[in-house]
Amino acid sequence: HKSIDELVRAEEGLVSRSIFVDDEIFQQELQQVFSRAWLFVGHESLVPKPDDYFVSRMGTESVILTRDRQGQIQVMLNSCAHRGMKLCRYDHGNNRTFTCPYHGWSFSTDGKLVEKPGELVGVPGHATHYKGELDKKQWGLKTVAQVVNYKGAIWATWDADAPPFLDYLGNMRLYLDAALDNRDGSSGGSEVIGGVQKWRVKCNWKFAPENFIGDLYHDISHRSVDIVGIGPGGGKGRRDPSATRSAICFPELGHGLLGRLPFYEEGPYAPQYARYPEVEAYFRQVHEQRERTLGSAMRVQTSVGTIFPNMSFHGRQPRTLAVFHPISATEMEMWRMYLVDKDAPEAVKEAARHYFLRYSGPGGMTESDDMENWTGATEASMGAVSRELYFNYQMGVGHAQPVPEIPGCAVNGEYTEENARIYYRRWAQFMNGLSWDQLMAGSVRVEERAA
Ligand code: FES
Repeated sequence: HKSIDELVRAEEGLVSRSIFVDDEIFQQELQQVFSRAWLFVGHESLVPKPDDYFVSRMGTESVILTRDRQGQIQVMLNSCAHRGMKLCRYDHGNNRTFTCPYHGWSFSTDGKLVEKPGELVGVPGHATHYKGELDKKQWGLKTVAQVVNYKGAIWATWDADAPPFLDYLGNMRLYLDAALDNRDGSSGGSEVIGGVQKWRVKCNWKFAPENFIGDLYHDISHRSVDIVGIGPGGGKGRRDPSATRSAICFPELGHGLLGRLPFYEEGPYAPQYARYPEVEAYFRQVHEQRERTLGSAMRVQTSVGTIFPNMSFHGRQPRTLAVFHPISATEMEMWRMYLVDKDAPEAVKEAARHYFLRYSGPGGMTESDDMENWTGATEASMGAVSRELYFNYQMGVGHAQPVPEIPGCAVNGEYTEENARIYYRRWAQFMNGLSWDQLMAGSVRVEERAA
């Protein structure tokens, strides 16, 4: 077997195809990446009330995201401590205690009843069959080591030694904010509409975050979509062709995006919902409000980006959050959530819903194009001969420039494979088992939005 450094030669723009198809590498990913990194597990609006739960995933593990009776968000392994049965078999619901269907053990998150979330509170036959000898305190559900609610998005890690989420995110935060707090930079104020779309794709999970981290080059795949015209307003084209974007990345952290650099002069509101006057009026008003509250700080704009390892987002209206769960080396489960302002008029939510349905998700026109590419590339790399080859990520090697206004940030033109190179370099660092001190040596962040 080749070493990780032989498989990922990021500086040269070479990544072995085997990391997209090999079962052993996949197992190593679950250990080194998914049991250590901060992972996106959901949005607070999926569990608005006490005792609400939403079944999510972290890597290949099923987890329960729940809001306890004290209002705190908890994330626990969805597997009974007794003999492993899946506790929650629904996608979401409202439950005070989680009772196992196998032998009936029950677990609670109610801080009035238990010291630790997920503690074992009910054991059928505890006094008789167990003679009162089973120590319930020892047999609670496995909980994550750290969980954070960042502007409505919930993140968790199994690793107690992982750095605080905001360090892990670094200055990528400036761009994630554009997706999470559309309004005034202070709070989320958003909700997921229309439930969570979930579907399986026969491809390696890394194809999707790699695509969303800054592959503008693949736009040719969506040529038919451009011709049909499925823009937000229902008009021609997917996007404003005059809007220039850059591939922006955070090389030490593995995050990146396609967006606008800070400090550009944002012009007046650009109408894009001409067919829907109420929607147009709403987005204009939001734009003006943002301008008043944020001033020059709003001059950070995202179209699409990836947080290492498996979360991506669209930051412009309409906004989406996506996560790519590994199932096997050659299969992933893709989830998409659609974000709107909680108090937006119904007409705005309706227009957003229609746009999302035609644009992305399993039936959306662009996502269908992408899925075909990722599936085809995975399938054509599974053979004994093909898996020995390398993919080419050489576009723009050696042309990255630092962005002085944002510590830790680099830019490399509009069309480049810089962002994919820094993503796979980060992947290799995790796979090589670097310590958190080594992994975070280059992390820097501005405390406030750049002004
Ligand atoms: Fe859950 Fe036995 S497996 S109670």
